[in-house]
Amino acid sequence: MDELIWHDLESGGYAADLDFWASLGPARMLELGAGAGRVSLMLAVCGSRVSAVDLDGELLDALGHRAGELGAEVETITADARTLDLGTRFEHVIAPAAFVQLLTRPEDRVAMMERAGRHLEPGGILWLAVHPDLDQALFDPALPPGPTWVGPYESRIEDARREGDLLILRFRRRDRLAERTTTAEVIYADAGDLEAEALEAGLRLRERVVLPEDDRYSESVILGLAR
Ligand SMILES: C[S@@+](CC[C@H](N)C(=O)[O-])C[C@H]1O[C@@H](n2cnc3c(N)ncnc32)[C@H](O)[C@@H]1O
Repeated sequence: MDELIWHDLESGGYAADLDFWASLGPARMLELGAGAGRVSLMLAVCGSRVSAVDLDGELLDALGHRAGELGAEVETITADARTLDLGTRFEHVIAPAAFVQLLTRPEDRVAMMERAGRHLEPGGILWLAVHPDLDQALFDPALPPGPTWVGPYESRIEDARREGDLLILRFRRRDRLAERTTTAEVIYADAGDLEAEALEAGLRLRERVVLPEDDRYSESVILGLAR
């Protein structure tokens, strides 16, 4: 239960990408790193047939529960995107919220892309969302902070430092009973790096969509890759 609350606080409020993902449907879609379903649920409600993969079964249980509440259907699969083998193909495989940048080793990103490619129907596209400027995405003081608290739960980024290609974030999580810190690592990657890794995975760049900066969110880029 706890992980779900922190997940919702730390990544549930992002909305800059939803119109783009909705524009791909209705279709047969697979979301990698779906978490509690911020994107998968919206897609299912808009009429897509959605499968959602995540390493974290607790988050997927919440996704399933939320789907039930919405009267929507989402297939949930607890699995590692780097070794995925569903034996099914999709028109779109999507990796929102810079999922690819959570895979901090190049070999893990290539493995994920290679596996994703195997799940594409002929003509299907793997869409990878990338934050090309992590510093700005996370710390631009001009941008208002996203929601950081719900009821007694609060999460704040209290420190961020760059170590080589890694951005190391320290979150301070506070509830009624305790205060603790947790860290997350995200890799600095630009579209060119990922395009080269995609080639290793047998995928070529077909589209490059820019979601421009607005008054709430910094720019992000979505790469469309195909076999
Ligand atoms: C930032 S959340 C994004 C959730 C959702 N896609 C969204 O856009 O709101 C990233 C998710 O990726 C999952 N994850 C991390 N590594 C993974 C892997 N190797 N395979 C599958 N899921 C993974 C995490 O458990 C987490 O739920």
